[in-house]
Amino acid sequence: MNPAPNLVLVGPMGAGKSSIGRRLAGRFGLDFVDADREIEARTGASIPTIFECEGEAGFRAREAATLADLLQREGVVIATGGGAVLDAGNRGRMRERGFVVHLQVSLARQLDRLARDRSRPLLAGDDREQVLRRLTEQRAPLYAEVADLCFDTDTLFPPQAAAQLTRLL
Ligand code: S3P
Repeated sequence: MNPAPNLVLVGPMGAGKSSIGRRLAGRFGLDFVDADREIEARTGASIPTIFECEGEAGFRAREAATLADLLQREGVVIATGGGAVLDAGNRGRMRERGFVVHLQVSLARQLDRLARDRSRPLLAGDDREQVLRRLTEQRAPLYAEVADLCFDTDTLFPPQAAAQLTRLL
């Protein structure tokens, strides 16, 4: 594996960052941290509650602080939130302290994987398809900017994706 101290997974909601990240950590004998679950543990509040009380800006500030802490560690597989790349500081720290894998997924597969999900505030409205399309348009260049490796998870279940990625890393 690359000498970078950590493995950082970026990509849109529904790309499989958490499920694949957990399996990769197991395969490499590394720790796994999901940044969103870490934010919830630190604040004692769910992501929807943080959005409700502090707005997206408040969530982003917590996300940046949490990621900066996690990236100080070594030997950790970090599943970031889909919007973590919006912040230039986050992007710089990811590149400095991690080997960054961009997990890609099609819009159709995202909609399918997220169909029953109620935990993502940005998908609370009616037109999920339009929101997801817009987010991907905005963020695709940012994922490309930070990525050391791109990997398409569209047709793969998490165990297959983790097995294939293990061979590439
Ligand atoms: C977000 C993605 C979510 C979570 C929050 C905002 C985004 O994480 O951080 O709801 O801006 O795309 P996942 O990518 O793990 O779903």
